[in-house]
Amino acid sequence: MQKPIVVVGSVNLDLVCTAERIPAIGETVTGDSFQTFHGGKGANQAVAVARLGYPVSIVAKVGDDEFGTRLRNGLRVAGVKVGTVATVKNTASGVALISVDRKGQNSITVIPGANGKLLPRDLERALPILRSAGMILAQLEVPLETVEYLCAAARRLHVPLMLDPAPARPIPRQMLCQVTYLTPNESETCTLCNLHGRNLNLKTVVEFAQILQSQGAQNVIIKMGSRGAYAAGANGMQKMVPAFKVKAVDSTAAGDAFNGGLAVALMQGKSLEDAVRYGAAAGALS
Ligand code: RIB
Repeated sequence: MQKPIVVVGSVNLDLVCTAERIPAIGETVTGDSFQTFHGGKGANQAVAVARLGYPVSIVAKVGDDEFGTRLRNGLRVAGVKVGTVATVKNTASGVALISVDRKGQNSITVIPGANGKLLPRDLERALPILRSAGMILAQLEVPLETVEYLCAAARRLHVPLMLDPAPARPIPRQMLCQVTYLTPNESETCTLCNLHGRNLNLKTVVEFAQILQSQGAQNVIIKMGSRGAYAAGANGMQKMVPAFKVKAVDSTAAGDAFNGGLAVALMQGKSLEDAVRYGAAAGALS
């Protein structure tokens, strides 16, 4: 029997406007369209896993507003098990205000709402489901103390953990030591390495990945958008995996789809290199 993937993370309603360009500070631009989508890094990763036909549950919180009901139903319809999605009273669901330009690039403001109330004690209650997991996926849109608790629990339970360190923020070294797969994008890599002035390119990425491994992450996969993804494995494997060429419409959640694909492929026993290629395909399709 396949052990499920368990995602612990955020669920948001994405309020998305498209315009020729993203406004600069103090500027007003006239946009082309406005739509709402189900999002949140945790929910996006869970949906990616479900769409690839792999069993998945999510541990999350939504508010007791109209968005909360809609988001939970959306996850269920997508094939994600939602028995561990709790509703928080007198609290708004998480929302993300997203601007997308004509090149498909975005800028995002997240208001955590109920996601900010997912606490270590909620994970204590979810221990049976965490214990049953083949892999746990986490991101940083819920409180850091919760992700710290999760990393320690995953280590204790001998369940591999994939951490998407997004949105970018420094994280304690002790936590990195408990991460089996670390999947930062370029800006998150610079934040974690504390090397803001340095340029991340196809040459320096090797050094950046080494720094993250020396801080304790076992396998490091650096997502570099249209330039591909660089993988440094615990077994010494190093490989730049090219991206699939697509016309980008909206890059929102491409990184989340990548993580979902990567996790499914690893659970199916693919090598790290092949799994990264599979993740890249999922990201490109997204
Ligand atoms: O990674 C994309 C996601 O980031 C969006 O769906 C938005 O909700 C923010 O959490």
